[in-house]
Amino acid sequence: MKVAISGKGGVGKTTLSAMLSGVLALDSRRVIAIDADPDANLASALGVPDDTQVVPLAEMHDMIAERTGAADQPGGYFQLNPRVDDIPDEYALKIGNIRMLALGGVAQGGGGCVCPATAIVKALLVHLIIGRDDILIMDMEAGLEHLGRATAQSMDALIVVVNPDRWSIQTARRVRDLAGDLGMQKVFAVANRLGIPGQDAGTETQAQLEHIQTTLGDVPLIGSLPMDPRLGEGALRIAPDGSFEPTKALTAHKETIENVIKELRSRV
Ligand SMILES: Nc1ncnc2c1ncn2[C@@H]1O[C@H](COP(=O)(O)OP(=O)(O)O)[C@@H](O)[C@H]1O
Ligand SMILES: [Mg+2]
Repeated sequence: MKVAISGKGGVGKTTLSAMLSGVLALDSRRVIAIDADPDANLASALGVPDDTQVVPLAEMHDMIAERTGAADQPGGYFQLNPRVDDIPDEYALKIGNIRMLALGGVAQGGGGCVCPATAIVKALLVHLIIGRDDILIMDMEAGLEHLGRATAQSMDALIVVVNPDRWSIQTARRVRDLAGDLGMQKVFAVANRLGIPGQDAGTETQAQLEHIQTTLGDVPLIGSLPMDPRLGEGALRIAPDGSFEPTKALTAHKETIENVIKELRSRV
């Protein structure tokens, strides 16, 4: 599956991307996690202690030149369909079964700029073959404007993350409309930060869920996470033996995340 994650800044896109990646990786699935947010922090949510380990694709000048036959300048001739099948293994950061790539400043898959780096990103997202039980997760910024049509349509699902506030719900509705304009068929929502901290807020959570579902109309809500300060630890951390293990947050919410994956598998 290829899944894009969008929503207003700060709603929990990176947290959800990391949790989905973490659960599948611990289940021995192949995961390709793409950080498409210029303000990148997916690596950190996946337990990578040092962000400088991640070289953004935008800065892989030699690879871009080798694959496209051109330095990363707009204009001029270059290969529009570069070979990308080995990029996850050769160029991504390896976090257990996760292959993580950050795009840096590259436009997300072909909207706007027609340049060599963008051709690589587009080829990666459109042509990379992902098994049904494996996943490509793209952690995006709120706008979908940078997503070219071909890229948007190659995504099997778009998850919009919402919080129980009207601003993030408004953004979610905008994202849904943009997704429709780009021809994306499968748009889902995941609610985050539900409940009132420090209170047993079952009723409140239910009311928030109903409000979100009503406001989002035909976008199915396929999961929800409570307000939980542990989520600040991210999804994975490095164990004493150097391997990656789940954080307390991931263990606590594993079932919720597994259900989101189950919903996705049954609906796309
Ligand atoms: N359910 C939650 N409860 C408490 N804190 C959360 C929750 N979800 C996310 N956070 C925290 O909120 C901040 C923003 O989340 P993040 O996933 O980075 O949002 P985004 O990627 O949408 O900008 C992070 O510090 C994260 O740890
Ligand atoms: Mg983020």
